[in-house]
Amino acid sequence: MRPLGRGREIAPGTIVAAHLHRSNALDVYDAWNEPRGCRVIAKTLRPDRLHKRGARARLVREGRLLLRLTHPHLVRAYEVHDVERPAIVVETLTGATVEHLAFDGGQPMRGVELANLGAHLASALRHLHAHGVLHCDLKPANVVAEHGRAKVIDLSHARPPGRMPPGNGTWCYMALEPVRGAWSTPPPMRGDWESCSSPPRSGPTPSLRSRRTWTSTTRSSTPACRSCGHAGRSSPAR
Ligand SMILES: Nc1ncnc2c1ncn2[C@@H]1O[C@H](COP(=O)(O)OP(=O)(O)O)[C@@H](O)[C@H]1O
Ligand SMILES: [Mg+2]
Repeated sequence: MRPLGRGREIAPGTIVAAHLHRSNALDVYDAWNEPRGCRVIAKTLRPDRLHKRGARARLVREGRLLLRLTHPHLVRAYEVHDVERPAIVVETLTGATVEHLAFDGGQPMRGVELANLGAHLASALRHLHAHGVLHCDLKPANVVAEHGRAKVIDLSHARPPGRMPPGNGTWCYMALEPVRGAWSTPPPMRGDWESCSSPPRSGPTPSLRSRRTWTSTTRSSTPACRSCGHAGRSSPAR
C-alpha cells in the first residue's frame, strides 16, 4: 500500500509534505505542523501495518522515550499520538546522516569534526544509559550531523538492559548479545558501545566469527543486511 500523499493529515495539525523513508513497519514523512507553524518529521505506521500491535507499541514507546529523554544530542520529540494511526512528531534535522556523509558521496568527516561527533555520541549514550535505556540500533543511518553537532535518532529498538530478543537491531551493526538473544548487562551497557566502535558485521548469517576490517574493499563485497536489506546502508533525508 502506498504512503500517504502530500496534503494528508498524519496526526492532528500535521500534514504530509513529502514521504522520506519506508521500513518494514514504518513510514517517515517530512511534514508541516500547523500548531507550531514549522516543518517537522512524522513517523507513523505504514497504512498496511496499522494492525501490527507490536510495531504500534514500539512506535509509541519510542515517542514517549524521546519526550522524556531531552538531550542536545538526541532528536527532540514534540508529540506522541497513540490513536488509530499512531504517530510521533519530532524536530526536523537539516544535516546529513553519517551514512550519507561516509558512503553516499557526502563529505567524509575528519579530525576535529570526527572527534566532536564521537564526543556527542558518547554524551547521548551516557544520557540514555543513565536512564536505563539501551539504543540497540546505533549505526550511521541513525546519526545526523547538523552544523558540527551530532544527533542520535531512531529509538525504535531501544529497551532496558536484559534479555534481548534475537535480532533486535540492524544485523551488520549488532553487538553480540542481541545476535545471540542473550543478556545485556548494566553497566557498562556494552552493546551500544560495541555498535559505535566496531566495524560493521558482515556475512549473510549470524556467524560470530564474521567480523572483518571496515575497508572499502570489504564494504563493496558486504552482502545485504538481513534486517535492513542493504549492505549496512539506507539513505532518504540525506
Ligand atoms: N528528525 C529527523 N530529521 C531529518 N531526517 C530524519 C529525522 N528522523 C528520521 N529522518 C530520516 O528518515 C530516516 C528513517 O528514520 P528512522 O527514525 O531511522 O526510521 P526507521 O525506524 O524506519 O529506521 C533516517 O535515516 C533519516 O534519513
Ligand atoms: Mg533508522
